[in-house]
Amino acid sequence: NPQPSTLNPQHPMRVLVTAGPTREYLDDVRYLSNASSGRMGYAIVQAGIQLGWDVVLVSGPVDLAPPQGCEFHAVMTTAQMRDAALKLFPGCDGVIAAAAVCDYKPKERISGKLSKTGGPITLEMIETDDVLAELGRNKEHRWVVGFALEAQNPRENALQKLRRKNCDWIVLNAPSAIGSETNECEFLGPTGDTLAAWSGSKAEVAGGLVGWIEGQKELGVR
Ligand code: CTP
Ligand code: CA
Repeated sequence: NPQPSTLNPQHPMRVLVTAGPTREYLDDVRYLSNASSGRMGYAIVQAGIQLGWDVVLVSGPVDLAPPQGCEFHAVMTTAQMRDAALKLFPGCDGVIAAAAVCDYKPKERISGKLSKTGGPITLEMIETDDVLAELGRNKEHRWVVGFALEAQNPRENALQKLRRKNCDWIVLNAPSAIGSETNECEFLGPTGDTLAAWSGSKAEVAGGLVGWIEGQKELGVR
């Protein structure tokens, strides 16, 4: 089992990244998901590797190849993402949660295939696990970075999310980032102060984010 590099200051930063969407199945052939491409998360993985980090990627289904050199764990459902992330987190120094997790799942998963009834149907949905909140609860000495995509009261809502999920920092994304090649975001700390802002291609934003975190090493953050 890999040990967190906290134990060895010479060791490169080892970072968990969650990325991509998750899927919640209604039956064996149908699922709910969202339109996340995974590009932001994969750009973060790439930027981390370029900086010399050991990156552990837990990814939902995307059309992207895992960046060369990362430790790759493929998942489909939120429960699988949660299980993988919680298992891998103790071996890391921190986590960047870039996944676009499906917030709800059908209360029951039907085995086989649901047949048409000839009329409307109602799906009962329940909340999925909050992966980031669980990582936050179990973080101990590790650092935790969340993402927030907010349509209204962006700073206020992002700060609430940071607190609710026990994050150290949160990346506030403009809704225009979805499906876009470019990104504009602010980086908030626990007091709600804007610590940095990045815009440009997802690679540029990812470079800004991992560079900022790496810079904290000098302040004793690992
Ligand atoms: N997240 C997660 N598990 C979930 C939902 C969200 O790990 N079940 C993480 C995301 O990866 C992101 C952060 O939590 O880093 C915020 O996600 P977001 O969808 O903005 O927040 P929610 O708590 O789901 O609230 P809402 O969608 O209602 O705004
Ligand atoms: Ca959500």
